[in-house]
Amino acid sequence: MNTTLCYLDGQYLPLNEARISPLDRGFLFGDGGYEVVPVYSRKPFRIGEHLTRLQQTLAGIRLANPHTLAEWTERIERIIAAAPFDDQSVYIQVTRGADDKRDHAFPQGVTPTVFIFTAPLVTTPDSVRTTGVAAVTAADTRWARCDLKVVALLANVVARQDAVERGCAETLFIRDGVMIEGAASNIFVVKDGVLLAPVKDHRMLPGITYDVVLELAAKHGVPHAVRDIAESELRSADEVWMTSSTKEVLPITTLDGKPVGNGGNAGKPGPLAQQMHGWYQQFKDEVMRRG
Ligand code: PDD
Repeated sequence: MNTTLCYLDGQYLPLNEARISPLDRGFLFGDGGYEVVPVYSRKPFRIGEHLTRLQQTLAGIRLANPHTLAEWTERIERIIAAAPFDDQSVYIQVTRGADDKRDHAFPQGVTPTVFIFTAPLVTTPDSVRTTGVAAVTAADTRWARCDLKVVALLANVVARQDAVERGCAETLFIRDGVMIEGAASNIFVVKDGVLLAPVKDHRMLPGITYDVVLELAAKHGVPHAVRDIAESELRSADEVWMTSSTKEVLPITTLDGKPVGNGGNAGKPGPLAQQMHGWYQQFKDEVMRRG
């Protein structure tokens, strides 16, 4: 039984006691947005950026943000403080609420449902990090607003499950010959010493970790380019990484059963991935643990 404190519609209560209506539009239509915020030593990472992205998601689905920045921060801080663990993964969800009937069109005068809960942050074990993970590719069959972090995640869920059933960690979506992102992560490619990042447009989620990685690349003088990455470039890459709030920077060393990279490094985490992981840890340390 999970008795960690959560927040639901104005109340703080144990997670196992939280209840919503079966008419909630999140349940009926997947009508809502969400965020996942990593917390290190009880400090939420880039909380301003996460709340800004939540605002963009809600604006994109025409759902008025029920809280101000200060109200969100206060609620999130209370949930973090009440948890019995220091490093956490905070989940925030807003749905369009529960009407007294089912109708696709937006209901009038219905209060959005707000839910916040936290869990221990699950980090990647060193044994996995040193070998890297396997991934597969699939056609991107999602809708045309993948920049919005909405709870309607069925295509991502099925893609991720396909990966798991093949003993892989992630599925990489390919759309019109272009590598877009992972089912629950952004993807970077390294070719001839240049870090390639996909374009942040409607085709992919603008990752908070993605931004940190590009900032670190700029700070440390790594040559990089933000542009479409062709499927052929993905398949001939020297390195492929996945990034997310919970995975941080994780090398993909096998793609569709073939080793990633060339020569002696084939099938092993590349030097830039290891370097970036180090910079990321250092950055977190400076900003979070001592800040
Ligand atoms: N997912 N792309 C997709 C489709 C994602 O679901 C995520 C994160 C990312 C990376 O975004 P960020 O760096 O801001 O975490 C990219 C979260 C972790 C999830 O759904 O659990």
